[in-house]
Amino acid sequence: MADNSDHGDVVLRFLSSIGRPAEAQQYLDLFRSEHPERFAIVHVADAVVRHAADALAVELRYLVELGLEPVLAFGAIEPRSAGRSAERLAQALGPVASRRCPADASEVTAACRDNAIPLVTFEREDGGADARFDAIADLAGALGTRRIVFVTRRSGLVPPGGRAISIIDLTTERDGWLTAGALPSEPQKLLRQIARVIDRVPHRMTVSVTSPLDLLRELFTVKGAGTLIRKGSLITRHLGWDGVDKPRLLGLVEESFGRALIPGYDQRPVLAVYVADEYRGAAIVSPAPLAPYLSKFAVGTVSRGEGVGRDLWRAMEAQFPRLFWRSRADNPITSWYRENCDGMVRFHLGGDAWWVLWRGLAPLEIPLAIEHCQALPPDFG
Ligand SMILES: CC(C)(COP(=O)(O)OP(=O)(O)OC[C@H]1O[C@@H](n2cnc3c(N)ncnc32)[C@H](O)[C@@H]1OP(=O)(O)O)[C@@H](O)C(=O)NCCC(=O)NCCS
Repeated sequence: MADNSDHGDVVLRFLSSIGRPAEAQQYLDLFRSEHPERFAIVHVADAVVRHAADALAVELRYLVELGLEPVLAFGAIEPRSAGRSAERLAQALGPVASRRCPADASEVTAACRDNAIPLVTFEREDGGADARFDAIADLAGALGTRRIVFVTRRSGLVPPGGRAISIIDLTTERDGWLTAGALPSEPQKLLRQIARVIDRVPHRMTVSVTSPLDLLRELFTVKGAGTLIRKGSLITRHLGWDGVDKPRLLGLVEESFGRALIPGYDQRPVLAVYVADEYRGAAIVSPAPLAPYLSKFAVGTVSRGEGVGRDLWRAMEAQFPRLFWRSRADNPITSWYRENCDGMVRFHLGGDAWWVLWRGLAPLEIPLAIEHCQALPPDFG
């Protein structure tokens, strides 16, 4: 249980080994700060119970030891065996308390508050899968659930011949992935239902599809493991500081980088400021003699790994085909930058290794980009 600090330590060490220690702790703090019943609904596919109940039970026990009780759901995909699957998983959980509950928010909440994992079955056959997934959405809506995880045998939705998709943005990619042949039929059916659930739940929520062995990695790392499905962010573009809520923007940047900006940063000229809904993330592009310079790219710690950065990036690259920026060599985002730049060069500044990265620059301009990055005044104090 949560008060068993020895176990808690073991679990935290385990989480650190799959991600970055600070990341695991940050998610843990976030999950624990929420109402316990909002933590997650974990829908378990029949095949997972049949073939990997014990492996999943180990991961669920870890969660319970951290003080987190997910709501376990069964049957949305295969209703007939829902009751049996719930029983079987309860057995696999061993001494961990679990309780069968109807899909009723107050009963589920009571179980979570008693530190018991609620087991909810969705067995309705009238109305078909639509009605069952709607019932999950309604439970999530009533509980205020922050994430739903579909645990399937494969980790994520996998297109034919490809590897698991990392993020699906329903705002821009829904039609593409729901086109016949884009995904094999079962994952495509699941995606269609997931889109339906996200549309029906009134609050912000993410849904992911992952395997039992990747469940903790999905929950506790920014990068996640499996496929994350979400609605795209609303990106607002300001062509200058006008209209920007400066304290919120500067607060976001400072929180993201964990450092204080120098006084006067917000007096410097800007070409554009992109803000993702409710200041969850932002990109600041400033003028430079060579080409537009990406001065800040930041997403608040609680919103990372959900695709907000990608949404900002798309909006920005559409307007700035020529762009350059710099990044510390040890920044984990470098591997993603590598795929999204035309080129990158490593340089040193005051003993630290950096990359200068660019899009749309001519080869002869690259030394100028490096020079610019080396000569920039510090942004943080
Ligand atoms: C960099 C940052 C803006 C990314 O924002 P984000 O919203 O978490 O990014 P997304 O969820 O949109 O992910 C975009 C891509 O980066 C990958 N990614 C995100 N965080 C990652 C991490 N910690 N390690 C490895 N890859 C990561 C995602 O998997 C995704 O790749 P994909 O499209 O191939 O699946 C955010 O992590 C941040 O604010 N970091 C601190 C500030 C910073 O370092 N800014 C950049 C300075 S140069």
